[in-house]
Amino acid sequence: MQDSCGRTIDYLRLSVTDRCNYRCRYCMPAEGVEKRAHGDILSLEELAEIAAAAVACGVKKIRLTGGEPLVRLGLVDLCRMLRAIPGVEELCLTTNGSLLPRLARPLREAGLDRLNISLDTLRPDRFAAMTRLGTLQAVLDGIEAAEAAGFHDLKFDTVLIGGFNDDEIGDFVDLSRNHPWEMRFIELMPMGPCASWDKGCFLPGETVLERVPELAPIQAQGVARRYRLPGAKGTVGLISPVSHDFCADCRRIRVTADGKLKGCLHSREEISLRGLHGQELVDAVRQGILHKPQRHHLAERRSDTPRNMNQIGG
Ligand code: GTP
Ligand code: 5AD
Ligand code: SF4
Repeated sequence: MQDSCGRTIDYLRLSVTDRCNYRCRYCMPAEGVEKRAHGDILSLEELAEIAAAAVACGVKKIRLTGGEPLVRLGLVDLCRMLRAIPGVEELCLTTNGSLLPRLARPLREAGLDRLNISLDTLRPDRFAAMTRLGTLQAVLDGIEAAEAAGFHDLKFDTVLIGGFNDDEIGDFVDLSRNHPWEMRFIELMPMGPCASWDKGCFLPGETVLERVPELAPIQAQGVARRYRLPGAKGTVGLISPVSHDFCADCRRIRVTADGKLKGCLHSREEISLRGLHGQELVDAVRQGILHKPQRHHLAERRSDTPRNMNQIGG
């Protein structure tokens, strides 16, 4: 269905947990987040029921997000439940990759179509410093496991941070030469812990094109402007929510792990879906779609949501 601005909404980002085994500095405070009781988080049945209601409103693509979705118990069962909903054309997941050695194959077998992996640096020391709790090797093992399980069209999400990883732009782009991957750079959005970071941390996506002038533009896809190195197997994507907002083309709604429907990542308004069933639930999702905010205000360095990214799912 269309929202009040005439945008077709067909993509649900469904957060299955706000917990994470990492503490990325731009996303979470060092001490982590206040642990919600398990009862505050949607059950697998509630998640599937909400997904089905969204599909009844025209959603065709579902992406599971977190926190880190792979820490959620029963995730593989959930994938199977979502796969069984008629009308789900694409089932995807965004992960930090560290738990894929155990879960890539079962997820594939449960019907997951695609994986996007977050990876902000290729240097082990920087990786440990940024994630506070992670090791680069765990993610590299996860990537290998994902490929072995049949996830070949991987996309990588690298948040571009001035003074932290901008000297690695060339290294990330190089990975697109011999792999059929999309290497994507995301502009750091001022929200949560990084809202107060130094201006120099916030680089425009164009920095990538300045550093690697051989990149030639190809057809955009979703929210990413895309490029290719001559002769490369893979592609490079720029996701630039700050410098080139893509609100006019946005097709998404989000549901948080505690059952709030959000029309926009950055908006304050939320509709509680908890306790709603059947037609009542479908009507609530419909209201959320109709009232999806027109745009965010990141260009003025303002995100209106009081939530951290781990509580929304990106
Ligand atoms: P594809 O289905 O492969 O196109 O993936 P995707 O880009 O929809 O999903 P992914 O989770 O990989 O998102 C990439 C990044 O874009 C995330 O890190 C988010 O931070 C950011 N992002 C996703 N959706 C939005 C949005 O609606 N607004 C803004 N500002 N940023 C978003
Ligand atoms: N700006 C841009 N991307 C962010 N992510 C988390 N916080 C931010 C932010 N402030 C990214 C993660 C992951 C995705 C789900 O969201 O790195 O790739
Ligand atoms: Fe976890 Fe992702 Fe946040 Fe890092 S950015 S702490 S991996 S939810």
